[in-house]
Amino acid sequence: EKPFKVTVIGSGNWGTTIAKVVAENCKGYPEVFAPEVQMWVFEEDINGEKLTEIINTRHQNVKYLPNITLPDNLVANPDLIDSVKDVDILVFNIPHQFLPRICGQLKGHVSSHVRAISCLKGFEVGAKGVQLLSSYITENLGIQCGALSGANIATEVAQEHWSETTVAYHIPKDFRGEGKDVDHKVLKALFHRPYFHVSVIEDVAGISICGALKNVVALGCGFVEGLGWGNNASAAIQRVGLGEIIRFGQMFFPESREETYYQESAGVADLITTCAGGRNVKVARLMATSGKDAWECEKELLNGQSAQGLITCKEVHEWLETCGSVEDFPLFEAVYQIVYNNYPMKNLPDMIEELDLHG
Ligand code: NAD
Ligand code: 13P
Repeated sequence: EKPFKVTVIGSGNWGTTIAKVVAENCKGYPEVFAPEVQMWVFEEDINGEKLTEIINTRHQNVKYLPNITLPDNLVANPDLIDSVKDVDILVFNIPHQFLPRICGQLKGHVSSHVRAISCLKGFEVGAKGVQLLSSYITENLGIQCGALSGANIATEVAQEHWSETTVAYHIPKDFRGEGKDVDHKVLKALFHRPYFHVSVIEDVAGISICGALKNVVALGCGFVEGLGWGNNASAAIQRVGLGEIIRFGQMFFPESREETYYQESAGVADLITTCAGGRNVKVARLMATSGKDAWECEKELLNGQSAQGLITCKEVHEWLETCGSVEDFPLFEAVYQIVYNNYPMKNLPDMIEELDLHG
């Protein structure tokens, strides 16, 4: 049987890390996967050299994942359409604000037998309301798409420190390709490593909601940490945040399963790791200590990487306003108001107050 050919779309901090994981497995299981893995790179000039050339010759992504050696069967390709030629499995891994443009370019170049996994954390909010990114990919490219989400700070995974993740995927009934269709076993073989333990489930909505919204909660944690309020305040934000994440899922994606929030790596575990050491928390902390705005802090700290919560909190606000539900999500709203309208961070406790002492 013809092995599955895999392409990773994206080469940022997480994109490159997942490409490393996937390339290691494609090399390790030549009977299941074609050994060469293409990684689409948004081309950049780094001190007069092309980033793709650096990756293909020195096997390092010096800008987004420095000091990590990449497998030599991972090939950087600056041409998006060429990188998906004859592909069977597409792994999407770019900051979510770029997804609409990438899907627009891919339209008509991806066969309907292709299966996809989205490693993005965010939503698409538009005329159709709030949409999972996996559903957006399915709708725009006509291919089945699942998700990968977990407590996974990229550099720790890249350094091969042990962590867990969750992959969620529904197997469709309409396979029309040659050979066999992608199933949970194939996905486990593609992503599981000795240092990266994969659980494969069906709840795409549940893991995607957690992945998108924990970035907003992490901004709240960064604010109170930056104010010097310590661990108790951060834990309070995480408690309220978890409640709002679950409420959001129950209101807008009733198919999501409550146990996913508590039991999967993509759930509360990702909330904890992101609030402890993620980029969103760092950006928010710097906003609090420096008084600079979110975009300045992101630029200063992240060297071209993206703190996705800054965009997600606005998208969530717009959606909640459309459906008249802003008041049901006081933490999400407070984070939005602090980032976009300069509300004072020190008022966060009052903004998310739940007690009604007069009731
Ligand atoms: P990143 O934050 O490192 O972003 C940089 C990437 O964006 C680079 O590859 C850059 O070339 C690309 N880029 C810049 N401008 C672009 C454009 N106009 N069009 C297309 N690409 C452009 O990205 P990342 O860390 O790989 O994150 C990808 C997704 O994975 C995000 O949704 C993120 O939330 C999620 N995620 C990240 C981590 C992490 O620790 N980094 C962990 C888990 C999930
Ligand atoms: P940040 O984007 O805040 O770094 O979070 C990374 C992540 O998603 C960890 O699972």
